[in-house]
This record gives sequence, C-alpha cells and structure tokens, in this order.
Amino acid sequence: MSSEVQSVFAMFSLLLLFFGAIVNVLSNPAITLYQCKPNDDACVTRVANEIYPLILEPNPEIGAELMDPMFQSEIEGDLSILKFKLFNTTITGFKKCVCESAKYNEEQQTLKLDVLCGGFVLTGLYDINGRLIVLPVQGNGDYSITTKKFRLKLDLELKTITKDGKTYKNVKNIKVDPEALEPVVYDFRNLFNGQKDLADTVLKFANENWKEVADFVQLPVFMANLKKVVRNCNKYLKTTSVDEYIPQ
Ligand SMILES: *[C@@H]1O[C@H](CO)[C@@H](O)[C@H](O)[C@H]1NC(C)=O
Repeated sequence: MSSEVQSVFAMFSLLLLFFGAIVNVLSNPAITLYQCKPNDDACVTRVANEIYPLILEPNPEIGAELMDPMFQSEIEGDLSILKFKLFNTTITGFKKCVCESAKYNEEQQTLKLDVLCGGFVLTGLYDINGRLIVLPVQGNGDYSITTKKFRLKLDLELKTITKDGKTYKNVKNIKVDPEALEPVVYDFRNLFNGQKDLADTVLKFANENWKEVADFVQLPVFMANLKKVVRNCNKYLKTTSVDEYIPQ
C-alpha cells in the first residue's frame, strides 16, 4: 500500500471504530445491532462473536454480572465413583473464547456453536472423596486447575417470548461437550491430609492423564459455569428484541 492509501485506510478504520462506539453506547443494553438471515451460518457466526464479549460484561441496570473473572461459591460434582465440591472458586478465561462456527435452526429454535477457548484458570478450595478413574483420592484444601486450549461444542435450545408486541429470544437450555486439547495442570494441596507419597501419586496420575481426567471430572464444572453465562446472556436478551438483530 502507498502511504497515502494507508493513511486514508487508517482514517476510515478510525471512523468505523468511532461509529461502532456510538452504536454501542446508544443501544440499551450494550448489544449492537446486527442483521443475519437465519440460514447464513457465516453471518450468525460473526454476530455470535460480536455479541459474546458484551454478554460477559456487568450491567447493574439489568442485573448482569461480570463473567470473567467469574465467581462460584460452590460447584458440586456427584459422579458415580467420585464426589467433589469446589468452594469459592474464581474462574478466568471466558473472554478468551471464539466461536469458530455457528448454526442456527429457526424451525427447531436451536443454535449449535463450535467454540475454541484459549485457556481457563480455576482457583479456590476443594473437598474430594472417591476414585479418580483407578486411584483412590481423598482430601480438602486449596486447589488450582490451569488449562490451555479447550474446544466446547455447545447446543442451545431457544425460546421465543412476545411482550408488548415485541419478540425476544431466550436461551432455555444448554448442553456442552467439552474437550481439553492441550495439557491441563491440576494442583490440589493437602490431598490425603498431607501424606506426601499418596498425594504425589494422585497428582502425577492426574497430570500425566490430563485428558482422561478432564473427560471424567469436567462436566459438572462446565455446566455450572455455562449456566451462569446463560443467565447473564438472558438478562441482555430480555432487553433486546429480535428485530434489533434479525431482519423481519
Ligand atoms: C467462602 O468465602 C466465604 C466469604 O469469604 C466464607 O465465609 C466461607 O467460609 C468460604 N468457604 C469455604 C469453604 O471456605
């Protein structure tokens, strides 16, 4: 590019940013207006990525909370051979998720999202008892889980609500199929009440078999966190009618 073309291009980008910012401020709440035909997957994917960071933000007027970091006072995992509870957990990472493909089905009111997340960090307190696949495990104390890339396949069931002649969508149900794509680091302090040999054996097993361990324990944790994201999302959707983002 010549420098002249470059500077015109830069100015144009600035203008776009500026008007984008105005649209953001004017719309209430801060969901910008987009229009897609329901079967235009590329457009739906683009809109999903435009809206997603906005629904993670707090908005006291509608009761929306900050989603990254997220706080969970208690997450319970009740698996057949393993029971665990996570207390006072702080979760970061939802900001680092990007929707790679979205598929909206108007008739069935479903939205399928294929999402790639850069990584999550969870820190808090734990209480665990049972078998971690093949090893007995027991203990309570501080914990952290640090992941790298994760793929989330999400299935959303939508609901349509009409109020004062306007139509609103809501997420009625969510299902997730998560997959750890890269090593996960599990750090659980004070396992077996501090008996080092037993604790080290379990931690070594978990870190060496990170994918199987993630497959085994992750679902209750993701469901608890995604339900929170969905609740936040619905607070925004309740105040943004469909005609603001889908052409009639
Ligand atoms: C979680 O935090 C609250 C508030 O600080 C505290 O009262 C509670 O005891 C904590 N839970 C655990 C299991 O430590």
